[in-house]
Amino acid sequence: MAKYLCVNIDHIATIREARKVREPEPVAAAIIAELAGCHGITVHLRQDRRHINDGDVHLLRHTVTGSLNLEMTPTAEMVQFAKTVLPNMVTLVPEGPNELTTEGGLNVEAGISEITAAVQNLRASGILVSLFIDPKTEQVKAARKAGADYVEFHTGPYADAFERRNENEIELELSKLQDQITFASKSGLRVNAGHGLNYRNVKRISELNGIEELNIGHSIVARAALVGMERAVKEMLNLLG
Ligand code: PXP
Repeated sequence: MAKYLCVNIDHIATIREARKVREPEPVAAAIIAELAGCHGITVHLRQDRRHINDGDVHLLRHTVTGSLNLEMTPTAEMVQFAKTVLPNMVTLVPEGPNELTTEGGLNVEAGISEITAAVQNLRASGILVSLFIDPKTEQVKAARKAGADYVEFHTGPYADAFERRNENEIELELSKLQDQITFASKSGLRVNAGHGLNYRNVKRISELNGIEELNIGHSIVARAALVGMERAVKEMLNLLG
């Protein structure tokens, strides 16, 4: 059973940026989500600042009472920024300029020296570091080598299989995830998961053994736009049991 829910509120800022105005305010969304019972708040500070911006992250650092998880790409500029904000956790993700959302896991094996340097630098400031990776043995081994505290397994392929209602593919993706969760835990890594999770597909992920936190954004903000943030978060928490 996944223990905790972290709500990714990027798309509250996406709505704000549609008009380049002051509302809706991400901090307000974070406060309501926390009051509804979520364990933490996640934001992705993109290099193009297309939704969340530096000021939002500073404000969230002062207002979020649970865990604040900052997703970012491992550039020197981003690492420096994180060290000034001191979120509870940084999740390192790959970033493409034209992608609609994060498209795949970080290739830790290929970028081992840059990623290890970023991990060590962040950990030296007391920040927990998680690496967003595909559920593959070589990536888990590389994450361990880089000195990460956590890995976050990419659940996007499972979510895609679920949308296609292809039971064989769903089972295959779930077993890849469970195998790598077990392997990561045995290697001394703590495990989170996320991407593409929603009110229909989350149950089977939450039943896997060994996941601490689920990071869920789009589906919660989409539901919040229609029924309100408090209800959207509570409904997700109910599904997680
Ligand atoms: N985890 C990571 C590393 C992500 O980049 C994202 C999207 O920002 C999520 C989880 C949340 O994905 P979704 O918005 O599809 O729930």
